[in-house]
Amino acid sequence: MLVKNAKIYLKGRLVEKNILIENGIIKKIGKIKGKGMDAKGYLVLPGLIDPHVHLRDMGMEYKEDFESGTKAAIAGGFTTVLDMPNNKNPITTYRRYKEKIKKAEKKIWCDVGFHFGGAKGNLKEVKKVNPLSLKIFMGKSTGNLLLSDEYEMWKHFHAFDKRKPIVVHAEDEGMLRAMEKMKIEREPIAEWVAVEKALSIAEYEKRNIYVAHVSTLRALKRIKEYRNGFAEASPHHLFLDGKKLPSYLKGVNPPLRNIKERKLLWQNLKLFDTVGSDHAPHTLKDKKGGAKGFPGLETSFHLFFDAYMRKRVNLEWILTRMAENPARIFGLKKRGIIREGYLGNLIFVNPKKEWIVKGKKMNTKAEWSPFEGMKLKGKVEKVILRGEIIYENGKFIKRKGVILR
Ligand code: DOR
Ligand code: ZN
Repeated sequence: MLVKNAKIYLKGRLVEKNILIENGIIKKIGKIKGKGMDAKGYLVLPGLIDPHVHLRDMGMEYKEDFESGTKAAIAGGFTTVLDMPNNKNPITTYRRYKEKIKKAEKKIWCDVGFHFGGAKGNLKEVKKVNPLSLKIFMGKSTGNLLLSDEYEMWKHFHAFDKRKPIVVHAEDEGMLRAMEKMKIEREPIAEWVAVEKALSIAEYEKRNIYVAHVSTLRALKRIKEYRNGFAEASPHHLFLDGKKLPSYLKGVNPPLRNIKERKLLWQNLKLFDTVGSDHAPHTLKDKKGGAKGFPGLETSFHLFFDAYMRKRVNLEWILTRMAENPARIFGLKKRGIIREGYLGNLIFVNPKKEWIVKGKKMNTKAEWSPFEGMKLKGKVEKVILRGEIIYENGKFIKRKGVILR
């Protein structure tokens, strides 16, 4: 495949180049003769990587499944996603991990990797699986995956491959219980305590630590004090005002914070290492019953791209946080950059296209969005996976996702 006149971001500038992809790999970038696909008018970016999604398959298919979830990913510009282990039966054993892979293989439209769940006494299973990352819920969220006991947590921090990241949901279970007794909402202090604990143990064990959906500046600063501490931003903590949502919709763990906190996060955007959508699809019925989280795959990049169009964030920030850094941190080889020798995963963004967020029109089974009605500028109109068009103008063309191991 030859892509002509592609406007790409190279060494800090937007430049027009031709891109030749052979056998799924970028063979050459530069002046290349021959007929090809004209990319005029588009920004051509690397296939994005979302390191934090909940595809729900393996027991909660009525909320989402591998097919609908990975279609949502593609429509949102992601060619690689990492799926969380808090399934109906959490993915904490070798057997379930294998079952999940087997089920996903036949259904995925983009590439998918799996976080493995850390649970009490499952170190043997962790070693047998040797996953690309270990996810630890320090406090309870959706599902019953939890590892709050310090002894158990410490053992996992000690034993898990130090070249791979431990991802934590940082809300301290003890603090959550205290707040439940006081009958108050989850407060920032649950995040502060968990981050302090996770960072202390990680530093003591000289291992990396990746904190998902960081929602307060205090936590963000604490994480970035440590050279091997990584912080993930979630779109909803930056773009959503809970006060403007009906109260049954606004619930998410960790909760949306106030406008002051949001402003502080925006002012310190450079401290974040990645963006994870935390795509957490629920039906409206489940939301009314108190389910936490939002679908986010189809809005995550589009929100940041719209912010780029409004000069609130630069393209460099988006590309590092949504492609390059996730690839580096999670060890996903040859991904996240448009470079010779890298995978031919490209997305074509039409920067002039204005559209309105409508849950009903999305690919996620959730069929709603907390950003409903928002007008955004810029849309992903074409997706190329390993040198083949898999998505164009809302149509899915070829299913060729693979599992990352
Ligand atoms: O709001 C949330 N929803 N936070 C989480 O940590 C999990 C997620 C889910 O799986 O629904
Ligand atoms: Zn999550």
